[in-house]
Amino acid sequence: MTGQLSPIDRAKYAAARRAVDFVEDGMCVGLGTGSTAAWMVRCLGELVREDGLRITGVPTSRRTADLARQVGVPLTTLEDVKWLDLTIDGTDEFDADLTLIKGGGGALLQEKIVAAASDQMIVIADKAKEVATLGAFPLPVEVIPFGWQTTRALIEETLAGLDVMGHDAALRMNGDKPFYTDEGNVILDLALRSIGNPRQLSLVLNQIPGVVENGLFIDLCDIVVIGHGDGRVELRDIGAGTVEHDRVDFAEGENLFRDIMD
Ligand code: 5RP
Repeated sequence: MTGQLSPIDRAKYAAARRAVDFVEDGMCVGLGTGSTAAWMVRCLGELVREDGLRITGVPTSRRTADLARQVGVPLTTLEDVKWLDLTIDGTDEFDADLTLIKGGGGALLQEKIVAAASDQMIVIADKAKEVATLGAFPLPVEVIPFGWQTTRALIEETLAGLDVMGHDAALRMNGDKPFYTDEGNVILDLALRSIGNPRQLSLVLNQIPGVVENGLFIDLCDIVVIGHGDGRVELRDIGAGTVEHDRVDFAEGENLFRDIMD
């Protein structure tokens, strides 16, 4: 059955499967958004249904909430719990400091709030997400729709004075209409190519009127779990300074794969 999964999906599954080992009975878990995070939600659903794991999840998007309900992960809200034990999420890029670019799936605002409200953030990724310098992936910036063209002009003007290699900000589209986030905002994707100083960039962007939040996640991620298509996983813990190698058994996921393929 795993033969039908692409190598990239196998890598995403491997990372997700290993990451859910960090989830303990009674925990409140932030549930990320995206295709890698979706594997994690499915794995958690299986643990809830088949092993009786008792957890509550806080989803970071409507999409994730729908999937969590579908696979049987009980949900609560950040308003109710206020603080989480752990968040597991995907990423678009990560560097050696575990600074991230997120928001490719358009959920960066809730993802950042939930990650900031968690004791620990674990990022799950395939190897292709690792970069020496952030910025090849366009940086998503969530912007209020009111006067977004002015906000875009201010952003482009500001970028000209910063340590980045490109200044173009493109409005994210959904077909022939703007893409709207769950909060009803729009996203500008900044083609920066290389980000010399992520901390400075993040601070400066968030001071521009109309900017709600940007997709740089700094000092939020504690552990990255990197999955490979052959089941190998690498766990890097930035706080402990450790690197661990492990292997995921695809046979454990057979039921999951079957459910998805059916
Ligand atoms: C959504 C995100 C995702 O985590 C990011 O885009 C990675 O997605 P995928 O796992 O599908 O590659 O930030 O806003």
